[in-house]
Amino acid sequence: MGTNVAPMRVGVLTGGGDCPGLNAVIRALVRRGTQEYGYEFVGFRDGWRGPLEGDTIPLDVQAVRGILPRGGTILGTSRTNPLADSASAGGRSGLDRIKDNLAGLGVGALVAIGGEDTLGAATALHAHGAAVVGVPKTIDNDLGATDYTFGFDTAVNIAMEAIDRLHTTAESHHRALIVEVMGRHAGWIALHAGLAGGANVILIPETPFSMDKVCEYVERRFQTRYAPIVVVAEGAHPADDEQALSDERLDSFGHVRLGGIGQQLATEIEKRTGKEARCTVLGHIQRGGTPTAFDRVLASRFGINAIDAVHDGAFGTMVALRGTQIIRVPLAEATSELKLVPPERYAEVEFLFG
Ligand code: F6P
Repeated sequence: MGTNVAPMRVGVLTGGGDCPGLNAVIRALVRRGTQEYGYEFVGFRDGWRGPLEGDTIPLDVQAVRGILPRGGTILGTSRTNPLADSASAGGRSGLDRIKDNLAGLGVGALVAIGGEDTLGAATALHAHGAAVVGVPKTIDNDLGATDYTFGFDTAVNIAMEAIDRLHTTAESHHRALIVEVMGRHAGWIALHAGLAGGANVILIPETPFSMDKVCEYVERRFQTRYAPIVVVAEGAHPADDEQALSDERLDSFGHVRLGGIGQQLATEIEKRTGKEARCTVLGHIQRGGTPTAFDRVLASRFGINAIDAVHDGAFGTMVALRGTQIIRVPLAEATSELKLVPPERYAEVEFLFG
C-alpha cells in the first residue's frame, strides 16, 4: 500500500491590533507543526482580509527563522470584519467566501490569532463548519478566558519606562505630567504601569473619576515638592461626562477611536490648579518593538499548544493561560466576557494616590 497522502495544510492569520509576541506564536506553530506533525502552512495576509480574498504568503520553517524577537506580525493584520455586510460578494457571505477559499487552497484547519473581534469571527466561522483553533492576543489583557494575553507585559514595561523618564523631567520643571496609555474598556495597562512607575493618580475606564479629586491629588503632590504624574487610560472619563472622543469614525467592528482624555485632563488641571500641566500620549509605541521575555515565553507556549490542539482535532477551542498551565477553552468563551479591573483591585492601590 502506498502512503501518498498529502500533508495537512494549516492556515494562519493574525487579526486586529498587532502586539509584540505575534511572530513568536507563528514561529512556534510552524516549527512544531512541521517537525512534529509534518504539516504544511499557508499564511493569510492582513487578518480576515487574507482568507476572504484568498491572499496568501508562503509560511515554512525558513520563513519563520529569526522572527522570535521581532514585534509586529510577518503576516500583516487588519480590522477587516468577515461578519460585516461589506464582506459579502457575489451572493456569498463573508464566512462562505472564507470557506470557499480554504477549500480551494486545500487548507484543512485555520489558526486565528487575535483579540475579542478576531476570535468572535473565528467562533462564527467554526459554527459555520470550518476547523478553527484560536490564540488570544491583546495588549489590553481584557479577555476573560485567559489570565494573561501576550503583548500586555511588553506594553506595561514600555509605559513604565516612559513614566520613569517623565518623573525626572516633571521634577525639573515643577509640572504636572499626564500620561495617556491604551485601554478603551479595561484599565489594566494604566493600573499596572501606573503602579510600577509610581504614578500619583491612576485613572481607568471602569471607575469614572472626579476632577475635583484629581486636582486635590495633584496639589497635594506639589505641596510635598514633588511633581505629579497622572496615568490615564484612553477610555477613562469623568463621572459626569461621556467618553473622550478625538475622532468619531468607527472601525469595521463598530469601535470608536478614543483619545483626547489626557489633553482634556492637562487643560483642566492647569486651569484649576494654576500649575503647568502637559500631556504625553504613548499611543502605538506601546504596541511596537521587541516583546519581553514573559511575552515571548507565553506566545511560544500558545503556539505550541495551538498546533497540538489542531493535531488533536480540538476545533472550536482556544488556548488560554490559567495559573501556569496552558489549557483549551471553547472559542465562544474568549468573547463571552470582557475582563475588567475589579473595583477591589483599583481600591487596593488608591491609597498611593496624591
Ligand atoms: O485592542 C488593542 C488596542 O491597542 C487598544 O488598546 C486601542 O484602543 C486600540 O487597539 C487602538 O486601535 P488602532 O490600532 O486601530 O488605533
